Amino acid sequence: MHHFRYVKGQLNCESVPVATLVKKHGTPLYVYSQATLTDHFLKLDRALAPLNPLICFSVKANSSMAVLRTLALLGSGFDIVSEGELRRVLAAGGDSQTCVFAGVGKTEAEIAWALERGIYMFNAESEPELERINRLAARMKKVAPVSVRVNPNIDAHTHAKITTGTYANKFGIAFEAVEGVYARASKLKNLKLRGIQMHIGSQLTQVKPFELAVRKVAPLAQKLKAKYGLEAFSLGGGLGIIYEPALASGQPEWWQSKPAQGILTPETYAATLVPLLQPLGMKIIVEPGRFIAGNAGILVTRVEYVKQTGQKVFVIVDAAMNDLIRPAFYDSYHEIVPLTQRGGALISSDVVGPVCESGDYFCKDRRLPKVVEGDYLAILSAGAYGFVMASNYNSRALPAEVLVKGRLSAAVRYRQPLPRIWELETLPRWLKYSRVPELAR
Ligand code: LLP
Repeated sequence: MHHFRYVKGQLNCESVPVATLVKKHGTPLYVYSQATLTDHFLKLDRALAPLNPLICFSVKANSSMAVLRTLALLGSGFDIVSEGELRRVLAAGGDSQTCVFAGVGKTEAEIAWALERGIYMFNAESEPELERINRLAARMKKVAPVSVRVNPNIDAHTHAKITTGTYANKFGIAFEAVEGVYARASKLKNLKLRGIQMHIGSQLTQVKPFELAVRKVAPLAQKLKAKYGLEAFSLGGGLGIIYEPALASGQPEWWQSKPAQGILTPETYAATLVPLLQPLGMKIIVEPGRFIAGNAGILVTRVEYVKQTGQKVFVIVDAAMNDLIRPAFYDSYHEIVPLTQRGGALISSDVVGPVCESGDYFCKDRRLPKVVEGDYLAILSAGAYGFVMASNYNSRALPAEVLVKGRLSAAVRYRQPLPRIWELETLPRWLKYSRVPELAR
């Protein structure tokens, strides 16, 4: 559930009409609801309460300082994948001791920095990585807390690009090899074997793959706990969200066109997994990203042109694939609604951006209310893997971000000024001091 609602025909984020934010901050604009972030965090925390879990928000989903700070204040830990993410967490007031460091390609510099700051554990994804962590820890006269990421070879039945727990994926260490890896790692003097970790994929909408993976990995965790004193078991992230329809009943017809069925909730997740995990007596970690941030954010965009081509109606907006790449990259569905409700007939429309690629679209052949130049649309469920995946493609500025809390709103990131896009670029001497006409000869 989230806090984007129509009030008197105007889309509101909590108690703020989104149109007022557009007036103040322009478009394209990301708008986040703090109440939604908080609700989702607490919902998961409550559902898993019997396990006394450590929720490590997956920073890759949304690394805005304001979002991280909101979660840090709720007591969240963080799942990080780079030095940059760890530095962000610290800058936002997070505690490095609640951070778990994932990723198949941790560099020496990143490991050293994390060791320096002291994190809860490195989730190691290969033996060479364990050896590297051990070597660096020895050099720094430290003991590095580690877990091994198990690849349980369970298909998460999600999009191919975000399935991670099968042997066709680059992640983790094959289930059958894990015991041997722990045995060898236990001989490395500068490692402390602190836990075991898994993550089978993202946007899972059924509990079954989680259940299968936990049923497979839990006995191994128990065995390794007995042998090496492991204290933590991280289940990774992956809880899916409802992308369509994004809003609940009582909303206009086009929002209810595809009722969500059997969506995975924290309650069903917990009801299935808690009984399997509680007997382990381990610290249970979860690493949700999308579940917490996904429906807490929208991307607001202005209609620039409506172009009719005989076959189609193209609604050309000022946001593009560089602002939100998910539809282009994963063919993903995002609900699109107008900021102002007007009623009237629905028209089959393609909402597209200005980038010169046919993949630059937000929806295709979708029945949407008629819009005209100057109207505004909200692309929903854009709070996770939205801004973080934005780029400067086409030399387009990164969008601004706003956080709403009740009646309050604040810019939490200013729109990137255009010259900032090329501020780190320089010209080599031979180009700098050549006059263009000479080059042309
Ligand atoms: N833990 C690990 C080790 C992960 O690799 C991920 C996500 C998470 C936790 C968080 O997963 P979540 O709870 O958000 O599903 N850009 C893609 C999603 C990539 C997910 C990568 N790993 C998208 O837009 O759908």
